[in-house]
Amino acid sequence: HGRTGIVAAMQQELSAVLARLPDEQRQRVAGRDFWVGHWHGHEVVAVLSRVGKVAAATTAAALIERFGVDRIVFTGTAGGLAEGVRVGDLVVADAFMQHDMDASPLFPRFEVPLYGQSRFAVDAGLSQALAQAARSAVAAPMVTLGADAVAEFGLGAPRVHQGLIVSGDRFVATSAESAALRAALPDALAVEMEGAAVAQVCHDYGLPFAAVRTVSDRADDAAHVDFMRFIDQVASRYSAAILEHYFET
Ligand code: ADE
Repeated sequence: HGRTGIVAAMQQELSAVLARLPDEQRQRVAGRDFWVGHWHGHEVVAVLSRVGKVAAATTAAALIERFGVDRIVFTGTAGGLAEGVRVGDLVVADAFMQHDMDASPLFPRFEVPLYGQSRFAVDAGLSQALAQAARSAVAAPMVTLGADAVAEFGLGAPRVHQGLIVSGDRFVATSAESAALRAALPDALAVEMEGAAVAQVCHDYGLPFAAVRTVSDRADDAAHVDFMRFIDQVASRYSAAILEHYFET
């Protein structure tokens, strides 16, 4: 299996994961805490990247250069964009792109200059394993989240989606902006602020990358959940359950 880097942007998104690393040792690099430990006998390095593409890229480079990880898994939350991607659902990326990259007219809109591409694919095998683990986690939300969280957040039958996730240095919180994203990128399932940066770093290093995110909001002006409570009580528990299933196998 080798060494797996586990990344989330914020502490609340990883709280349930960190609680399951009993033997971890903390190391501070580039102003971040890296927890080096084991999960079902597999070596893991968990870290909080902080928010945005630059913070995520720094974290990924440090994980690779300083901690020698063999793969990176990103987890946390995303805003749902596509119809049918609801709060409480999970989204497993099959590719990432930066929705705020635009070097036109020198390069086509969204293309990362000098890479000749706008989309970065994830590792198919790692991603399928995560998707399988995600399906196991949502099959039993009462077990994964607890009855309290299911009732508090009104989670019905959560679904696992697979497809494009877009990243940018903006928290998308208006209906106008999410509608513009849907129009420009009709196949985007969800939006967040880090994944495409880590996908590009892993592409540069030739390292497998995959990501799974819990949908915390619809990226519109109807913020009908308490974001901080949601990421701690729902998203981090999903992440822990998914990784539990993943490392078990
Ligand atoms: N992460 C979770 N929700 C998000 C949103 N609406 N925009 C950007 N990143 C997010």
